[in-house]
Amino acid sequence: MSAQAKLQFADLEGVGPGTPAGEYLRKFWQPVFRASDLLPRRPKPIEILGEKFTLYRGDSGRIFLVEYGCPHRGAPMLLGWVEGDDLRCRYHGWKFDGTGQCIEQPDLEVSSAHRVKMRSYPVREYLGVVFAYLGQGEAPEFITYPDFEKPGVIVTDPQEVVPCTFWNRLDNDIVHIPWVHRATALRKGRLDFIVPRKEVVEETPYGWKSTRIAKGRTTNMRDMSGSAHFFMPNAYQFGVRTRIKGFEDRDLWDTKITWTVPVNDTTFVAFDVTHTPLTGEEGERYAQSKYKQFETEAEDRWDLADKVLAGEMTLEELPDELSAYTAFAIEDYVTQVGQGTVARRGQENLVETDRKVTLTRRLWLHEVQAMLDGEPLSVWKMPSEPLQVLAAE
Ligand code: FES
Ligand SMILES: [Fe+2]
Repeated sequence: MSAQAKLQFADLEGVGPGTPAGEYLRKFWQPVFRASDLLPRRPKPIEILGEKFTLYRGDSGRIFLVEYGCPHRGAPMLLGWVEGDDLRCRYHGWKFDGTGQCIEQPDLEVSSAHRVKMRSYPVREYLGVVFAYLGQGEAPEFITYPDFEKPGVIVTDPQEVVPCTFWNRLDNDIVHIPWVHRATALRKGRLDFIVPRKEVVEETPYGWKSTRIAKGRTTNMRDMSGSAHFFMPNAYQFGVRTRIKGFEDRDLWDTKITWTVPVNDTTFVAFDVTHTPLTGEEGERYAQSKYKQFETEAEDRWDLADKVLAGEMTLEELPDELSAYTAFAIEDYVTQVGQGTVARRGQENLVETDRKVTLTRRLWLHEVQAMLDGEPLSVWKMPSEPLQVLAAE
């Protein structure tokens, strides 16, 4: 696209190298893998923003991200062996250090290893997630989130791969809650989810803040349930009463952050992290209960979702014993995946309650247009204090 052409929202759907949205997202640290799933000596292939990479953990515990294919003749590096913090290719045994520098070419009488280097990318482990900087030049400052630095227990959900454009998730809103989650709310007796919601959205130095107004809600409005925050370009944070089995009856509030990261143009991966204000043995018990629930229900949740999308069962027919957490995930999946891999943007009928959608798109279009025109981009300022607090705190 020429720098002069006016950017349309449809231009933001591609995420590969050289695309407007892909280049913009590459300017930020992005989550790429759940850290606990990366075992030493077990390299993993990953795809993020339409590019494939090799992620591995060395014997020292350090994490490295390098190219997918070997610079010799392209064999997948994940097939190779981790030796210390280095990675050896299985095809002809060339060995590379964590910076991507070739350090051994075993069958050559005269080594040219010093001239061979593959790209490696800066990585950081934070909140149980591996973040990487995939852009050009020096990585920007790494961002931390004050709500997740408070005392409490951090739980990092298994990454959730969803077969549709990341925009279908970023465009998700508050108004959907009493509709999409009606069946589960009724099944679980959570009538508080069914009250209609409105939201007031305002721009902030980091993106936007949404203040929710739930009509007729009798509980005190608190920032925990009443506000949500969007951090440009693709993170969203909010408070939610815990839905974990065994803790459902407690007045316990999680702060949740979710990053929506494109795998490619037609698939995204969500990384969800929650902070819960429980410490010590109780915090541990809470985390274990949550991880156990993920394990037992993760396997067939998308099978159920696909059945719903095929018209073979309804959301009202989801099994009673399914946790609210998993049922909510299924309800969101069918709504978002069901819109199609690339939803019919441009043919929508946006209305007042879609203010959040229009604002997010406006911020994105403004930044990406500036990037294409070679103008300075906004410097998003993260809050220095927690945002999600109980009113009484
Ligand atoms: S392809 Fe990797 S060493 Fe030859
Ligand atoms: Fe939802």
